[in-house]
Amino acid sequence: MTLVANPRYVGEPIPLVLDGDETCLQLRSVRMNGQELREGVDYELAPGRLLLKTPVDGAVVQTVVDLVPEENTQLSGLYKDEASAMYCTQCEAMGFRRITYYPDRPDNMATFTSVRLEADKERYPILLSNGNRLDQGTVPEDDSRHYAIWSDPFPKPSYLFAAVVGKLGSIRDSYTTVSGKKVQLEVFSEPRNVHKLSYAMESLQRSMQWDEQRFGLEYDLELYNVVAVDSFNMGAMENKGLNVFNTAYVLADEGTATDTDFERVEGVIGHEYFHNWTGNRVTCRDWFQLTLKEGLTVFRDQEFSGDMNSKPVKRIEDVRVLRARQFSEDAGPMSHPIRPESYISMDNFYTGTVYIKGAEVIRMYQTILTPEGFNKGMKLYFECHDGSAVTCDDFLAAMADANNVDLTQFALWYSTPGTPTVQYETSYADGTFTLKLSQSSRSVTPMHIPVAFGLLDKATGQEVVPTTVLELKEASQVFTFDGLEGDVVPSLLRDFSAPVKLEPVSGEVDESDLAFLAARDTDGFNRWDAGQRLYTSLIFQTLNDQISSTTQAFVDEAFRMALEQKTTDYSIQAYALTLPSESTLSEEMKIVDPVGLHEARGKVKKALARKYESEIRTTYDGLTETMQAETEFKVDAEAIGRRRLRNTLLEYLCSIRETDQEQIAAAELAMKHFQNAKGMTDKIAGLGALASMDGEGADARDEAMQTFYDDAEGDALVLNKWFMTQAVADLPDVLNRVKKLKEHPDFTLKNPNRCRSLISAFAMNSAAFHDESGEGYKFLGSTIAELDKLNPQISSRMASSLIQWRRYDEERGQLMKAELEKLNAMKLSEDLFEIVSRGLKD
Ligand code: ARG
Ligand code: ZN
Repeated sequence: MTLVANPRYVGEPIPLVLDGDETCLQLRSVRMNGQELREGVDYELAPGRLLLKTPVDGAVVQTVVDLVPEENTQLSGLYKDEASAMYCTQCEAMGFRRITYYPDRPDNMATFTSVRLEADKERYPILLSNGNRLDQGTVPEDDSRHYAIWSDPFPKPSYLFAAVVGKLGSIRDSYTTVSGKKVQLEVFSEPRNVHKLSYAMESLQRSMQWDEQRFGLEYDLELYNVVAVDSFNMGAMENKGLNVFNTAYVLADEGTATDTDFERVEGVIGHEYFHNWTGNRVTCRDWFQLTLKEGLTVFRDQEFSGDMNSKPVKRIEDVRVLRARQFSEDAGPMSHPIRPESYISMDNFYTGTVYIKGAEVIRMYQTILTPEGFNKGMKLYFECHDGSAVTCDDFLAAMADANNVDLTQFALWYSTPGTPTVQYETSYADGTFTLKLSQSSRSVTPMHIPVAFGLLDKATGQEVVPTTVLELKEASQVFTFDGLEGDVVPSLLRDFSAPVKLEPVSGEVDESDLAFLAARDTDGFNRWDAGQRLYTSLIFQTLNDQISSTTQAFVDEAFRMALEQKTTDYSIQAYALTLPSESTLSEEMKIVDPVGLHEARGKVKKALARKYESEIRTTYDGLTETMQAETEFKVDAEAIGRRRLRNTLLEYLCSIRETDQEQIAAAELAMKHFQNAKGMTDKIAGLGALASMDGEGADARDEAMQTFYDDAEGDALVLNKWFMTQAVADLPDVLNRVKKLKEHPDFTLKNPNRCRSLISAFAMNSAAFHDESGEGYKFLGSTIAELDKLNPQISSRMASSLIQWRRYDEERGQLMKAELEKLNAMKLSEDLFEIVSRGLKD
C-alpha cells in the first residue's frame, strides 16, 4: 500500500498504527520503499497492532503475513467454508485486520488497484475480488496454477474488501442501466446449487431498476458478482462489486424454499444492492454511525419489497418483526440508541435497534417531509457526500437543508434509547373532536414524533378526516377537528408512523372502537392492528382467568369477519387471523409468564378453531381445490397469499385435538397437507403441524419427520428446516429431543445457520426454554460456552435470551442469571464478555 499523509495534519510525523489480529496473522516481513524494516527499531508489534515508527508520505509499504483460513472458525477475515472447497472473506466490521496489517477503519478510504489472487487451476478455477478484472492467466513458473488481478476504481474502506476463491458454478445475465451502460451480472454457488440461483438474479435486476426509478441511482461498475456461501455469520455483505451471501438468502426454488424464503432473497439481494449507494459510495465515518447506512438501506429494501409485492402486507410484516425483536431488545440490558455510544465488540451492535428501528427513523423523515421532500434530501445527501465517509448528522442536515426545515429536535431519535410511549385522550362534542397526545421517553426533552391520524364517522363508517400527519413536539399537545356531522372514531398512528407504543391515558382501550376499526379502517395497517389489540386483550383476560363476554364477542366478530372476507388479498386475511406472537405479547407484561402466556394464547386459538371449525374448514377446502386446479407453481403475491391463508387455517384446524378421535383427524389432515404439498411452503406447514402432535398423532409425526429428512437428500437449507421444526415443536420433551439432535451426524456448531436452526430456535420456543426446571437455560448456557471457542459472533448472539432474566419471575430470573454467572467466570471472547457483563450489570 501507498501511504498518503493526512493533508489536514500539521506537526511532526507520528507513528502509523496498522491494525492486525495477531491471533490469526503471522507477520513475515515489513518493507518500506523496498527496504526491510527491523522489529523494535523501525516498527513495533503489540497486541492488535503494528506500529510503523517513521512513516513517510508517499512511501510504499509492503507487509507479508501467513494465515490459515482452514482454522478460522470465527468466519471473520479470510476463511474456508466447511462444506465446500471455497475460500471467502468477511471484513465488516473488523475482519480486514484478520487478513493483513492495515488502518482498518471506515474513514480510511483507498483505491485497491491491483489485488492479485493465485491458486491451483483445477481445484480453484474461480478467482474473484472487487471491481473489474484487469488481467488473468497461467502462472509462468507453474502451469498448474493461475492468477487474476482485480482493480476497483472506487475508493473504499477496508470493510468493503472481498475475495473469493473456489470451484463454483454460476449463472450469468446482464442489466442495461438507464444511461445505457451494460452491466454483466453473475451469481455463483457451489455447482450443485446452480439451479437455485435464478430468483436471486431476477431480484437483482429488479433492484437495479427500482433504484433508478425511485431514487435515480444507477450502478457504477461493469460487473456485479454475487457469491453464495454456506457458512456465514450474517445475512449477506455488500462488498463493492462482489457481494457475499449466506446461501439462505440466495438459493431458492419451489422444492426447497418457502414463500418467506423467496421474499427474503428478494429483500436481501435488494438490500445489498442498495448499499452500493447507501454504504459504499457514501460510507460511515466511524462504526457509531452504522445506522447511517443500515437504517437507510433497510428502509430502502422495505420500500422495494413493498413496491414489488404489497405495501400494507410488507408494512404489517415489518412492524411485527420490530415489535417482537426490537421492542424487547429495547426493554432489556442491551437497550441502546440507534447510534450507540460505546462498544467493546462492534459486531454486537448489528442489532434490531440499529437496523430496523434505524429504518423506522428514516421512514419518519419521509412521513414528516413527504416522499418528494425525502427524495430531495437524498439527492442533496449524494451531491454533498458522494465519495466520503460521513455521519448521521450529515444525513439529517441534508434532509433539513433540502427542505428548509429545522430538524434539531428530530435528532433526538439518534441518541435516545428505549421505546417512547404516546398516550392519547379523546372527546367529541358539538361537531368538534379533540385529541390530546402526550409523550414519555428516555429523552429529557420531548421528541419529534409524527402521528399519522384519520377520523371515521361512527354512524356511516365514512372517512371524514383523511390521513393527516400530526407532529407531536411538546410533552403534550391538543389537536381539534371541527365541522363534523356526528361522533367519530379516531384511527391513530396510521401505517405505524413512529416506533412507539400507543396507549390511552385511561389505560382502558375502547374495545368497541377497536372492533369498529378492525372492520372498517381505511388504513390497512391499522385495520390489522385493531384486530391484534382485541386478540391481545382476550389472551390476557384468559391468562388472568377473567374473560369478559364483551371482549369475547368483539374478538369472535373480528375473527369471523376476517374469515369471511371476500378478498384476493389473502396475505392480509391470513395476518388478520393470526394471533400476536408470544414475544410481542410478552412486551405487555411487567413480569413475563412464558408458560402461562403460551397456554393462554393456545387456549384462545383452540377456542376460535372450535367455534368456527366448519367455516375454517370450508375456506380451507375451497383454497385446496383452487390450488389443486392450478397447473403452474407461482410465487406472486396472490399465490403466496393463498398458501399463507391456507396454512394459517391448517394451524387452527390442527389445534383441535383433545380426544383420540380428534388427534387422529388432525394428524390425517396435516399428513395429507404434507404429502400433497406442491412446494416447500406447504410441506413445511404440514410438517410443522405434525411436529407438535403426540398421542394418537405421534406415529404420523415420526413418519413425516423421517420422510422429510429423506427427501432432503442432504440439502443444507432443507436440513436446517428439519432441525428447526423440531426445536420449535410444542411437545413436553422438546429439550431432550433438541439434545439428541445436537448429537445428530448432520449437526455442527461450526455452521451458523445450522446452529441457529437448532439452538436459537429452541431458545425461541418460549414455553420449553423457560421450563421452570431451568434445564433449558443450562443447555443454552453450556452450548454458548462451547460455541464461544469457535465463533464469538454467534455465541454472543445466543446469549441475548439469557440477559433478559430481569423480565421473569424470581425463580426463573435467578436460574437464568446463574447461567450468565457461570459464563462470566470463564475465559470468554470479547464479544460474549460484553453481552454477559451487560446482562449482569445492575
Ligand atoms: N453490512 C452487512 C449488511 O447488513 C452486515 C454485515 C455484518 N457483519 C458482521 N460481522 N457484523 O448487509
Ligand atoms: Zn446492510
